Parts: sequence; structure tokens; C-alpha cells
Amino acid sequence: MNKPLDFTYNITTYGCQMNEHDSSIMGCLLQQIGGKPAPHETADVLLYNTCCIREHAEDKVFGNVGALKKQLEARPDLIVGVCGCMMQQDDVAKKFMRRFPFVNFVMGTHNTHKLPEVLQEVMTTGKRVCDVWEKEGPVVEGLPVEFGDVCSYVNIMYGCNNFCTYCIVPYVRGRERSRDEDAIVAEIEKLAAHGTKEVMLLGQNVNSYAGGGDAFANLLRRVDKIEGIERIRFMTSHPKDISDSLMHAMAECDHVCKQLHLPMQSGSDEILHRMNRRYTAQQYYEKVEKLRALMPDIALTTDIIVGFPGETEEDFCDTLAMIEKVGFVTGYFFKYSPRMGTPAEKMEDQIDESIKSERLSRLLKLQNEKTTAYNESLVGKILFVLAER
Ligand code: 5AD
Ligand code: SF4
Repeated sequence: MNKPLDFTYNITTYGCQMNEHDSSIMGCLLQQIGGKPAPHETADVLLYNTCCIREHAEDKVFGNVGALKKQLEARPDLIVGVCGCMMQQDDVAKKFMRRFPFVNFVMGTHNTHKLPEVLQEVMTTGKRVCDVWEKEGPVVEGLPVEFGDVCSYVNIMYGCNNFCTYCIVPYVRGRERSRDEDAIVAEIEKLAAHGTKEVMLLGQNVNSYAGGGDAFANLLRRVDKIEGIERIRFMTSHPKDISDSLMHAMAECDHVCKQLHLPMQSGSDEILHRMNRRYTAQQYYEKVEKLRALMPDIALTTDIIVGFPGETEEDFCDTLAMIEKVGFVTGYFFKYSPRMGTPAEKMEDQIDESIKSERLSRLLKLQNEKTTAYNESLVGKILFVLAER
């Protein structure tokens, strides 16, 4: 990119931390070609970084992009781009271009680094561009990084090989690819030099970083030694892959927070099997016990899906029992939502929305009690806090 452009941009992000981080990289890429951040109402380029993990996220994108039609009447030269996971699904990008003729460009998840080129093409030729790669390319190093935040995200790997039967991620983010360890460490050293105190290492399943084994534990130990980094967190960990070596590294590294997000999804063995999670409730609990033996105060959080196809009242009660038994500090709870092209979408015994809602509210009630009890257990304690802003 040699000719600097002069424009303002605004990025709307849906979904997870991974998307938040991608948006910050895209912001840096746009700044490299002359873009300046601006509010949604005045920006020259509006970019939507989409999510498709649950239905709600999709509805919001269609609603918000659709609503731009009015804004475009007053500002016909506005440039609108849509990217992210939703665009990576079969044919969605093309359908989106057809449904919203005012959208100037659409990109997928595998070519984020091409954003400056795509935007320049749109700006100079006025053509509409649809650039979605079917297959992931090799890991791209040297992407720009946003400096100056107290807490920073750092991608350590992309994609997922697990194919949980409800999940769209492996289809839209591709297979697992890990970043180079030295490049990760160098990035964190730079962040630390610019004032970052806490890093969150990101990946769909960080436990299988660089092929699994001790690789992630070794990475943690290296990051732990970086001057200036006071807190290290990571997500997400698949319970089947969390190894003894990782637990020991967590316990032994001074700067690794004694906190772990460990998605359980269900407390019923039958449902876990149908979800292709490859652990039982007992195996999950054994990991929790091991973690607590090494780190008695560890704060555990989780994800749960209610109303997965075939979930009986008894299965659901097994989930409640596990919530009771493990004692999570907090959790993210979702109603199962069928995702196009996933095995669970085609399973029989889909559960009624009313039952899903009823189960979700019972789950929330129980967890709220647990969260309150945890918070109350901290009353009177003196703890270090990190002021984020
Ligand atoms: N329906 C409901 N929740 C889902 N999740 C992933 N896919 C679905 C789906 N189809 C939840 C899981 C995962 C979290 C990021 O989102 O609990 O851990
Ligand atoms: Fe989805 Fe399962 Fe991979 Fe997590 S581990 S991203 S739930 S397929």
C-alpha cells in the first residue's frame, strides 16, 4: 500500500474476544493507510465485524446493516464493508451482497490482512468486492498491534479441530494453526514496553497450541518472565485437553492469574457424548479437583448450553447438580441454537423454545446464588486490583 488515503472509519464488532481483537487489528491496518477512527454517525467507512455463533448475533447484523439504508439517503458516498465469521458461512456473503445492494465489500475471516487492498480497490474503482477465501492460508505474522492498553489481547492460534456437534466455529475459522512462539513473545515484550500490564492469550482451544503436549505450558512459562507483565490470562481451554503440565505451569507462574474459563457445556454424559465433547461429567470434575489441589482459590467460570437436542429434564438436572458441585464464580449460559451445516442441527428431538427458556432461567437463578455467595466470601479480604481505565 503506497498511496496514503484520507478517510475516517468506524468498526462495529459482534461476538467474542477473538472478534474484538480482529477489529483492533483491522483498525490498525486502516490507520496504516491513512484512516482515522470516528463515531458511527460521521465516519466515511463503516465496517461490521460479524459473528454467527448464535442466532441472536446474526439477527443483530441483519437489523443493523439493514437500518443503514436511511443513513445512506443523506450520505450516498458512505462506504460499507462487512466481514467476519458470518460472511465465511456457505454462500452467506453472496446472499448478503444481493440483499443489501449498498454494501460495498464483503470479506471472510481468512484474509483480514487484505483489508487495506480491498478498501483501496473499492475506493479507487467504485466496484463492489466480495473476497471470501474458502481455505485458511498460512498464519500471517507481523500484523499491526494496538499499543497503550493496560490489558491487551494476543492471538496465539487460530481455528479449531474439535467439531463439537453444535458449533459453527471450525467451519468459519478453519483448522487449528498456531503462531510462532518467538513472534508471540516478541509481541508481548513490545506491548509491555508500551505499558501493557495484563495479557489475555487467545485461541479457540489454547491447550492444543502448537500441537498440544507441553507447548502451551512452555509458552506460559516464557510469557511469565517478560518484564512488566503482571497478569496473564488465557482462553479458551477445552476440558479434555487441559494437561497436568499446564496446571503445574499455572500454579507455578507468579503472573498467571489463578482463574480459568473451562466450558462444561452440560453435566449429562449422554448430552456431552452427543455434543462430541469427549469427556464425561466425572472426568470434568476430576480436572477441577486437580486444579483446586494445586490452586485452592482458583476462580472457575464456564459456558453451558441448555436445550441441546434430546436434553431431558433429567439431563438438565445433571447440569444443575454439576453447577452446584463445582461452584463456578460465574458462567455464560446459552439456549441451544441450531447452526446451519452442523450435525446437531439435523438431530431429532429438537427442544421447544419455551422449555429452553424455562431451563435457562432456572440455571441463571442457581448461578446467581452461587455468584452472590462467592462475592460475599470476598468481603473483608484485601486483594490487588488492576485499574483498567
Ligand atoms: N448454540 C448455543 N450456544 C452455542 N455455543 C456455541 N455454539 C452454540 C450454539 N449452536 C456456546 C458454547 C461455547 C460458547 C462460546 O458459545 O457454550 O462455549
Ligand atoms: Fe466450537 Fe468445540 Fe471448537 Fe469450542 S472446541 S470452538 S465449542 S468446536
